[in-house]
Amino acid sequence: MSRNTFRFLLSLLLIGALFLSACAPPAPQPVAAPTTPPPAAAKKLEIFSWWTTGGEAAGLLKLFDMYKQKFPDVEIINATVAGGAGFEAKPALKARMLGGDPPDSFQVHMGRELIDTWVVTGYMEPLDDLFKEEGWEKVFPPGVLEIISYNGSYWSVPVNIHRANVLWYNKKVFEANGWKPPATFDEFFTLAEDMKAKGITPLALGDVGIWASTHLFEVILAGTLGAEKYNGLWTGQTDWNGPEVKQALETMAKMLEYANPDHSALSWDQANDLVIQGKAGMTIMGDWVDADNLAKKFADSGWAAPPGTQGIFVALSDTFGLPKNAPHPEQVREWLRLVGSKAGQEAFNPVKGSICARNDCDPKLFGPYLQSAMQDWAKDAIVPSLAHGAAASESWVTLINDVMTVFVTDRDVAKAQAGLAQACKDAGVCK
Ligand code: GAL
Repeated sequence: MSRNTFRFLLSLLLIGALFLSACAPPAPQPVAAPTTPPPAAAKKLEIFSWWTTGGEAAGLLKLFDMYKQKFPDVEIINATVAGGAGFEAKPALKARMLGGDPPDSFQVHMGRELIDTWVVTGYMEPLDDLFKEEGWEKVFPPGVLEIISYNGSYWSVPVNIHRANVLWYNKKVFEANGWKPPATFDEFFTLAEDMKAKGITPLALGDVGIWASTHLFEVILAGTLGAEKYNGLWTGQTDWNGPEVKQALETMAKMLEYANPDHSALSWDQANDLVIQGKAGMTIMGDWVDADNLAKKFADSGWAAPPGTQGIFVALSDTFGLPKNAPHPEQVREWLRLVGSKAGQEAFNPVKGSICARNDCDPKLFGPYLQSAMQDWAKDAIVPSLAHGAAASESWVTLINDVMTVFVTDRDVAKAQAGLAQACKDAGVCK
């Protein structure tokens, strides 16, 4: 081998070695001992609700902002399922709870929905220590404390009080036509005729979720039966086969004649849009409409108690609790402290269209409608809402919703009344 050939082969070998070393994994380097501890496991808080419309989401974000300010290291997961009154969220929640995958905390109505669906069945943790530490027994009204209790314990923290029986109207349209909100059903129908003659849909309804018709029906029931007999419906004292229930169904059938024909395609907030646009005269819906108006910057909203319900406050409340096996119980407890606090409720409720469940909030922070609701809450006869979980168990509400689904189409009063009477039996309340 000549010297030149040797050099040539040697340089080939060197190039090859260089190439191989470039492809090879780097040699391990000595690692310096860590001077700071590794980051703690991520802290999270998953809150499940159906608050997705403008006003609803705005309220929820206020609470999230306050939580983040206090606990910046906690990641909040906003688990929402759209659909008024939770008609889509509740089945989704059930699937998760029964499948052993609870969210950290979830929106649930005070009353039968909380107690029958989740507490009696053993899915929730009691919250007595929290109520004691936060002094909540002194600031929540006794009636509210009672309705979130079972077996001597508290099971959820109410963030608000909503009113179901409100008739909303467009003040400008009413003023332009010299109209007044109707105080009786007769006045309602006289006004409805006038509206119809002027090309305005008298009643805006959005029952894409049938709950909105059940909601309308509960308001008509309260306006027809009065507080005491209405209450008797949920205890078996008032006869579902009686003349007043029949009358309420007849009134409802007549009201439906004045509703927008596309009601089964609209949501409650789309129905409210018809009032805002002056296309419809009135809508009967809970006071989350106040939040919707605020979010849509609609300042000409008028309100009144729907026919026959003056002096009656059909109430419901959104609450949050601690499910058993919630992934982040410590973070939930802090969430619940916030939800029940004066500052939390004063931030949430003015934009959510509800009043505080606590009795020490400052009325000056609230708009004119909510101030009027606060006064009524203090003096009216309080009765529980059917469509929003306070009055009846979820299974009973479902049976009534099924009756309503058929009734809004066939308007067969006798059939509906028989169905309602049977529902009360099936619920185990009527004999
Ligand atoms: C109710 C709930 C309110 C509001 C409304 C419309 O059931 O309590 O907070 O969200 O549904 O979605």
